[in-house]
Amino acid sequence: MKYSSTRGGVSDVTFEEALFTGYAADGGILLPVSIPTVNKATLEKWRELSFQDLATEIVSLFISETEIPKEDLQCTSGDTGSSAIEAVRGLEWVDIVVLLPRGRCAKVQELQMTTVLEDNVHVFRVDGTSDDTDLAIKPLFMDAEFRTRHRLTSINSINWCRIMVQVVHYFYAYFQMSSDVDSPVEIVVPTGACGNVTAGCIASKMGLPVRLVCAVTCNDIVSRALSSGDYSVSQTVTPTLAPAMDIQVPYNMERIWYIFIFRFHITWSGSGIYSLTVTRHLINKLMSEFESTGSVQVPEALANKISAVITDAHVVSDDTVTSTMARVWADNSYLVCPHTAIAVAYSLENRSKGESIPRICIATASPAKFKEAVDAAGIPWQQDERVSRLISLPVRYEDMERNEDWSDILRKKIVAINTPKC
Ligand SMILES: Cc1ncc(COP(=O)(O)O)c(C=O)c1O
Repeated sequence: MKYSSTRGGVSDVTFEEALFTGYAADGGILLPVSIPTVNKATLEKWRELSFQDLATEIVSLFISETEIPKEDLQCTSGDTGSSAIEAVRGLEWVDIVVLLPRGRCAKVQELQMTTVLEDNVHVFRVDGTSDDTDLAIKPLFMDAEFRTRHRLTSINSINWCRIMVQVVHYFYAYFQMSSDVDSPVEIVVPTGACGNVTAGCIASKMGLPVRLVCAVTCNDIVSRALSSGDYSVSQTVTPTLAPAMDIQVPYNMERIWYIFIFRFHITWSGSGIYSLTVTRHLINKLMSEFESTGSVQVPEALANKISAVITDAHVVSDDTVTSTMARVWADNSYLVCPHTAIAVAYSLENRSKGESIPRICIATASPAKFKEAVDAAGIPWQQDERVSRLISLPVRYEDMERNEDWSDILRKKIVAINTPKC
């Protein structure tokens, strides 16, 4: 399988190169050149597999055998920043630079990153939002010479590999809920940068009979884009109880547009069949308008195609988050994190609509990291021992202030990391 950029300026990319790439050098993001489809017989076979075996089957469709033989594939997943740090801490040949939005992630999430003292882990607490951190790293990835020389990669959902692994979750969850492989299942996705829901769109395109719902915080660009085609940034990012979803620019929307324009042969005017070149032209047109003005109207024909798969979008307030957490706790003695509660809130509100299709809510984080939300929901807090231990550990980080040039600081840090120290 080869990969290419949504904007057409980068193509013929191997899986290995995709793994070690963030943004493509043309400013777009990578997608496989084709999305494999699976037939009913395969789905029936897959429904009998363990999660790990299913992951191997699905992931191997996106990696050519010559790059990683199927028997060598192993899969895992977790909370982005801290799990990435855990994966590489102490390694000799890999350094990790993490930007966390200061005051905008839960204290425990921050401690999971700042209490790691190994020399190859470099944590910056940034006085800004996660969109701001995204803007700071983008120029480094677009500088092809710098990116190649320092072998940069990113591990959030800009990176294809994160999405590829999330595709597996959709198949696995579907098989748990459906007794056959034909019936539709609705999957409600707590959504921020749209990486997870992009994985859902790919699962759907592969042939899984799912329909998707995006559940978001009051930072509602995704909901506006899906319901009225209004893809425009709002003035500010409002901090909510679900900080991982407080996002102004859901950069994976570009991938979603690409999938639905190209795969379904949509045209700008809503008719005819367009080639790959024209698909990329449309993506460039939409993205350059968005990047220069902060706003673009999604063409109606494209919006209609997307809404056949992402059938609804729902904005959930902090008050509803806490009341949902409280209700789930009271009814099921089950504690959900505030992000998960946003999906569950949609489900509870739509329960009475009379449709009998099974519904899955994706749970995205451990509630142990979100004491503030648990307290606000009036649920007795049970301190997790691993979390208590974090509070007493020494920390190490550097701060980036608002008036500083973050890209330049990162550039210098990466150069320093790669400069021999003796
Ligand atoms: C806990 C949690 N929930 C939801 C999301 C939103 O996912 P996405 O950005 O893929 O839409 C994230 C993203 O990192 C997350 O960490």
